[in-house]
Amino acid sequence: MQTITLNNGLTMPQLGFGVWQVPDAEARSVVAEALRAGYRSIDTAAIYGNEQGVGLALRDSGVPREDLFVTTKLWNTEHAHDDALRAFDASLARLGLDYVDLYLIHWPVPSRDRYVDAWRAMEKIAADGRAKAVGVSNFNAKHLERLFAETGLVPAVNQVELHPYFPQARLRALHAEHRIATEAWSPLGQGRGLLEDASLVAIGKKHGKTAAQVVLRWHLQLGNVVIPKSVTPERIRQNLDVFDFTLDAEDLSAIAELDRGGRIGPDPDTFDWMG
Ligand code: A2P
Repeated sequence: MQTITLNNGLTMPQLGFGVWQVPDAEARSVVAEALRAGYRSIDTAAIYGNEQGVGLALRDSGVPREDLFVTTKLWNTEHAHDDALRAFDASLARLGLDYVDLYLIHWPVPSRDRYVDAWRAMEKIAADGRAKAVGVSNFNAKHLERLFAETGLVPAVNQVELHPYFPQARLRALHAEHRIATEAWSPLGQGRGLLEDASLVAIGKKHGKTAAQVVLRWHLQLGNVVIPKSVTPERIRQNLDVFDFTLDAEDLSAIAELDRGGRIGPDPDTFDWMG
């Protein structure tokens, strides 16, 4: 599996498996399927409600812990420093693990204005070695700059909505400047119209690949970490089969033209759902 090196030296698989909206009861079999197919990085979150199922699959799989890369996330209600520490312990207990590879603040929730407190708790968790790396999710430039100004630790990762309809060029440039890895959620645009886009389908035909594989390859060539979600065994395997072709300059410029500021999910500056 192709990896990238985070700003603290940890290596992370560039392609992982996301489990948003996978119910806990299904997570065990879906993650088992993904591990059998060859995924080694699994992305969950406390709010997904499936850490137990994910943990069972990980522990049942027989894959050595050091070969796995496990990400989970701190929920919006737990930003106060001590709440964050307790929430982390609860996630570890549900996963049945003694460390995670990556722990992320799920959303900044600017209306509550506690994400700097939460970030200080993340620093402590990282210092204790119970998360090998810590980062954020859904932070925009303003939120990141506040962390830089008020704390000493740069996030290893910012996981944000990113796909060809919403490629986040400016945020990616800021990440590059600070050596923050860009991780894409909904990398396939949630499988909606994007995967029927005529130009992606045409590029796929040229390479003998599907539109989904073209989109994943685009992410990889941009340097993004990508975590497609699927509950369909054939797609779980298909989404891993993206290392045997390369998009050329013409393909990349056609994909660059698809940018339409097409955000699907909430705006992180106003999102304050507490679950
Ligand atoms: P399903 O889980 O039913 O297989 P994203 O990761 O961008 O959020 O996209 C996830 C959505 O895209 C899911 O609805 C998933 O459907 C669908 N999907 C995942 N992989 C593929 C694929 N290779 N081809 C078509 N749709 C896919």
